[in-house]
Amino acid sequence: MTAVDDNTVLEQHFDATIEHEKRIEPRDWMPDKYRASMIRQIAQHAHSEIIGMQPEGNWITRAPSLRRKAILLAKVQDEAGHGMYLYSAAETLGADRADLTERLIGNRQKYSSIFNYPTLTYADVGVIGWLVDGAAICNQVPLCRSSYGPYARAMVRICKEESFHQRQGYELLMTMMRGTEAQREMVQDATNRFWWPSLMMFGPPDDQSPNTAQSMAWGTKRHTNDELRQRFVDMSVPQAEKLGVTLPDPDLRWNEVRGHYDFGPVDWSEFAEVIKGNGPCNVQRVAHRRAAHDEGAWVREAALAHAAKGRA
Ligand code: 3HC
Repeated sequence: MTAVDDNTVLEQHFDATIEHEKRIEPRDWMPDKYRASMIRQIAQHAHSEIIGMQPEGNWITRAPSLRRKAILLAKVQDEAGHGMYLYSAAETLGADRADLTERLIGNRQKYSSIFNYPTLTYADVGVIGWLVDGAAICNQVPLCRSSYGPYARAMVRICKEESFHQRQGYELLMTMMRGTEAQREMVQDATNRFWWPSLMMFGPPDDQSPNTAQSMAWGTKRHTNDELRQRFVDMSVPQAEKLGVTLPDPDLRWNEVRGHYDFGPVDWSEFAEVIKGNGPCNVQRVAHRRAAHDEGAWVREAALAHAAKGRA
């Protein structure tokens, strides 16, 4: 058999695995473009979890009670854990963790737009749990069926933890809404600031999403950006009503014919600016991550020296 025949057989086997909804595993042959696309998606996801610790980490020292502090600490630690599983999943594809970190701190790889907005009050912690983790769950539950095995399996545990994150946020907001007028205003203000950026988390509209068609064909994406955005809106409206907050969109209304909520236009120019690096906190987020990496250099060196001593 020639090398060309070999490749055709491997490709047919890959296509059949995808078609039969079976998993691609690290030892399996896969097209270079599939590998590169998975590394791209998993690395961006890992970076999002790691950078995502910053907006809320900002409030750990100022949590209003010991209980709230313990909950927030647990949540932020979970995000670090998610980043670690995801970097490990990227390594199964041949990516190098140190290289991925260099790409993040060198602004050469993206992370989620949402983490470039500031957290101004403690209500933001609740709203991030409710809306941001809610959007993450909407996006990530279908990824438990990703065709790439290590990513799909990491996603099962991540989604369980994200579900706790969402519940803690909603419970915090419920408590604040039963509190003083000033607390209710804080919740409304945080909702106003995070609603539209949460809709942007799902990515650009389908007709401007370069990766969706191929990722759907490979089973590394199960729904389009617009489908998931709609699902998130439909899920959030009754939650907002129960909470007693107003979502900041005058066009939001139930559409009997479509069986979904209609919503107003997203400001895609704002999204484009944020992913270009011009959001309110991009510079600060990356600089903070770079400083943490530099300050941790001695730990990595000591760990490597210890490992080398063990081998000697
Ligand atoms: N922020 C930053 N970049 C975004 C983005 C966002 N919200 N949405 C899309 N993009 C980028 C894409 O990465 C892509 O850039 P690239 O081609 O340079 O890689 C470009 O914009 C075009 O978008 P596409 O729709 O073509 O990209 P995808 O098909 O990859 O879809 C996605 C984007 C929906 C984010 C998809 O990659 C995905 O589902 N990823 C896995 C989940 C993930 O990474 N979530 C991030 C949030 S993690 C999180 O929320 C942590 C939790 O603790 C809250």
